[in-house]
Amino acid sequence: MHHTHLIFLFLQLGCLGAAQARICTVHAAGNGTDDAPAILAAFADCGKGGKVVLPSANYTIAQPMTTHMEGGSFDLHGYLSFTPDIDYWIANSYRFPFQNLSIGWHITGSDFVVDGHGTGGVFGNGQVWYSWARGAGNLFGRPMSVSITNATRAVVKNFKIIQPQFWASLVWNSTDILLTDFYVNATNMDPAAGGVNWVQNTDGSDTYQSKRITYQNWVYQGGDDCIAFKPNSTQITVRNVSCTSLNGMTFGSIGQYPDSFDILQDIFIEDVVVQNHPDAELEGGGPYSAQLDGGAYFKSWIGVDVGTPPNGGGGGRGYCKNVTIRNLHIINATVPLLLTSELTYSQLNATYANTSTFVWDDIHFYNVTGTSNTGQVIDFECSTAAPCSGWSFTDMNLTPAGGAATRGDTVCHNFFNYTGLPQCTA
Ligand SMILES: *[C@@H]1O[C@H](CO)[C@@H](O)[C@H](O)[C@H]1NC(C)=O
Ligand SMILES: *[C@@H]1O[C@H](CO)[C@@H](O)[C@H](O)[C@H]1NC(C)=O
Ligand SMILES: *[C@@H]1O[C@H](CO)[C@@H](O)[C@H](O)[C@H]1NC(C)=O
Ligand SMILES: *[C@@H]1O[C@H](CO)[C@@H](O)[C@H](O)[C@H]1NC(C)=O
Ligand SMILES: *[C@@H]1O[C@H](CO)[C@@H](O)[C@H](O)[C@H]1NC(C)=O
Ligand SMILES: *[C@@H]1O[C@H](CO)[C@@H](O)[C@H](O)[C@H]1NC(C)=O
Ligand SMILES: *[C@@H]1O[C@H](CO)[C@@H](O)[C@H](O)[C@H]1NC(C)=O
Ligand SMILES: *[C@@H]1O[C@H](CO)[C@@H](O)[C@H](O)[C@H]1NC(C)=O
Ligand SMILES: *[C@@H]1O[C@H](CO)[C@@H](O)[C@H](O)[C@H]1NC(C)=O
Ligand SMILES: *[C@@H]1O[C@H](CO)[C@@H](O)[C@H](O)[C@H]1NC(C)=O
Ligand SMILES: *[C@@H]1O[C@H](CO)[C@@H](O)[C@H](O)[C@H]1NC(C)=O
Ligand SMILES: *[C@@H]1O[C@H](CO)[C@@H](O)[C@H](O)[C@H]1NC(C)=O
Repeated sequence: MHHTHLIFLFLQLGCLGAAQARICTVHAAGNGTDDAPAILAAFADCGKGGKVVLPSANYTIAQPMTTHMEGGSFDLHGYLSFTPDIDYWIANSYRFPFQNLSIGWHITGSDFVVDGHGTGGVFGNGQVWYSWARGAGNLFGRPMSVSITNATRAVVKNFKIIQPQFWASLVWNSTDILLTDFYVNATNMDPAAGGVNWVQNTDGSDTYQSKRITYQNWVYQGGDDCIAFKPNSTQITVRNVSCTSLNGMTFGSIGQYPDSFDILQDIFIEDVVVQNHPDAELEGGGPYSAQLDGGAYFKSWIGVDVGTPPNGGGGGRGYCKNVTIRNLHIINATVPLLLTSELTYSQLNATYANTSTFVWDDIHFYNVTGTSNTGQVIDFECSTAAPCSGWSFTDMNLTPAGGAATRGDTVCHNFFNYTGLPQCTA
């Protein structure tokens, strides 16, 4: 892709420039002392064209941080370990207007590189949040680990996010960002969960109001969306990603705000494996994340505004178009490819079925393979108010439970002008 080349060029220039750069090194104070003030001071000193280096293994972060860089780099060799003080973070996290969510750390600026060197990133202390939320979704104040915010031309690489508090990462109002070589793992170790998904909302990454974003070489294990595209995500590339999760590639949720026109456009995804948790049978007590629902999941809200976000809403307009998904392998999903246009997240009032006006158009699959653990491999529930159109399917091989393809394993409602899906039943 054109923009990826630009980012790599910039990466090389960045390395050349680093020779003369001013360097600020911060060692961890240890003993649970908050390292955020020293880190913020280093960014104030070296954030413009210099280099901030964190050589220690573990830094305590006891307050929200915005680290700003213009040129230069951030070398992180250990974890930013966020304190487990739930009341503090609920009161003091940064707010994110979409779905009234919160953020712990903003990375802002332009022309910078963040390098976790394969040993650094965020330790979110998420277990306290998982045991506190007990599976309840979108609780107020529970912060995302990190957001790339208001950023242009940046690379974040060799980065780990372990036990994220909420969404592991977000890209918000940013352009030309490469996130490469990431490892994210949210695993519940509290046996009280008893098989219920307590790592809900631990998405690997979400994009919002951002364009020309590339995700490359990711490994994600967690209890929600592997990578999700929220309103106004355009020119997104996802390549070589492995997900063990509730959902794989997620489009939405979208259309939640009645006064909003939401766009998802020019999204290219290739070489992705999405698998059900191999220890699903250990859900009684062992380390557990979630059972896999959909490998690719398109989700829009009803066309009527009912309740308030984060868990209510609807009535938003908009479209998703020009999506290509190739070489997607889905292992043991409930329904490998899934579209719902009837989201409420609270109880669905049948009165509102088929009202969604959000349009899913011009979506193409090549070489999508895998298995389902139910009788269904595809369930596209488009609404009568906005039928799906212009989808194509080439080299598909999805097998339902039991092995034999049956009429009925592929359900497509209000699905028109498509090619390559002869078994589709309305
Ligand atoms: C570590 O911190 C505690 C309380 O914050 C303090 O009582 C103790 O003396 C500190 N230990 C060291 C080695 O600094
Ligand atoms: C870092 O230190 C904190 C405070 O001592 C501790 O709670 C946390 O588990 C440590 N994190 C890692 C990743 O070692
Ligand atoms: C966000 O949630 C908090 C806590 O429930 C509430 O006080 C606040 O009014 C909400 N804000 C918006 C914009 O909905
Ligand atoms: C992003 O930019 C907006 C508009 O200038 C500003 O209000 C906001 O504080 C910025 N966010 C961060 C995290 O700096
Ligand atoms: C988005 O980020 C840019 C900086 O890249 C800033 O100038 C702009 O104000 C931000 N917009 C919003 C809506 O925050
Ligand atoms: C995630 O962490 C859990 C608990 O440490 C571990 O069992 C699992 O193998 C890890 N997943 C991946 C993909 O590394
Ligand atoms: C998305 O983009 C459209 C078109 O530019 C704009 O009207 C809408 O307000 C944007 N929505 C959000 C949530 O940014
Ligand atoms: C559709 O998206 C692809 C990226 O997948 C992009 O290369 C292409 O230019 C887009 N097509 C149009 C007509 O914009
Ligand atoms: C189809 O995708 C699989 C991975 O899921 C890959 O190994 C294979 O090479 C792809 N086939 C083609 C023809 O690209
Ligand atoms: C497939 O998924 C089901 C439901 O999560 C689980 O019970 C079963 O053990 C899984 N099969 C394999 C081979 O992982
Ligand atoms: C469903 O919505 C209709 C129309 O607003 C309303 O009359 C009815 O009470 C609602 N039913 C439930 C179960 O909420
Ligand atoms: C079918 O979908 C394609 C791709 O979106 C579009 O170009 C074409 O106009 C559609 N045809 C009809 C009859 O809707």
